Amino acid sequence: MLIYLNGKFVPKEEAKISVFDHGLLYGDGVFEGIRSYNGRVFKLYEHLERLYASAKYIMLEIPLTMDEMAEVVLESIRVNQLRDAYVRLVVTRGVGDLGLSPQKCPRPTIFCIADQIELYPSRFYEEGLELISVPTRRNAADALDPRVKSLNYLNNILAKIEGELCGYAEALMVDRNGYVLEGTGANIFLYRRGTLVTPPAYVGALEGITRAGRH
Ligand SMILES: Cc1ncc(COP(=O)(O)O)c(C=O)c1O
Repeated sequence: MLIYLNGKFVPKEEAKISVFDHGLLYGDGVFEGIRSYNGRVFKLYEHLERLYASAKYIMLEIPLTMDEMAEVVLESIRVNQLRDAYVRLVVTRGVGDLGLSPQKCPRPTIFCIADQIELYPSRFYEEGLELISVPTRRNAADALDPRVKSLNYLNNILAKIEGELCGYAEALMVDRNGYVLEGTGANIFLYRRGTLVTPPAYVGALEGITRAGRH
């Protein structure tokens, strides 16, 4: 497997980043999870637009144009000879010192992994999947804009752990008032009277590309 890392494709074993990278030290960075089906990338530019918007929100300047980044994604799929792929595209604040300030991080770290992933066993897609609501709240929308897809997933991870501890593969995240927001790594939809409804992003859900519809 070849991984794109800061301008080069390197074997998986060599795809390493510094322990001083702020993506690791502080979760300071942004990412996208992108799919390709049968050799075609699903909504590539929508993902790139969200990536660049997330980066802009955290004042992280990505040193590649959107077209160059598109090529990174496509080339990652091609060099690994994949057709149905899950692509993880990550931009971190880069290597700095142990302080919080990004001012000491001159260059973002960019990497792209094209792999295969089974998010849930196929029986869940056929038989359905039961969720459980868990105590951990999703990050409040007035603390961190939910439209930012950042490397900070700790609330979601805690919710996932709580769900799994109760024997459920997925957890339902709610806000501090108990209103439904989303799953730990997916938006949620309710089918009601012939219509799909989903919470608006501004209350605290990620502005998902799948939920944007119009495919
Ligand atoms: C927290 C969260 N909500 C929703 C989604 C679904 O978003 P999309 O449809 O853009 O993949 C994801 C996907 O990564 C996610 O991590």
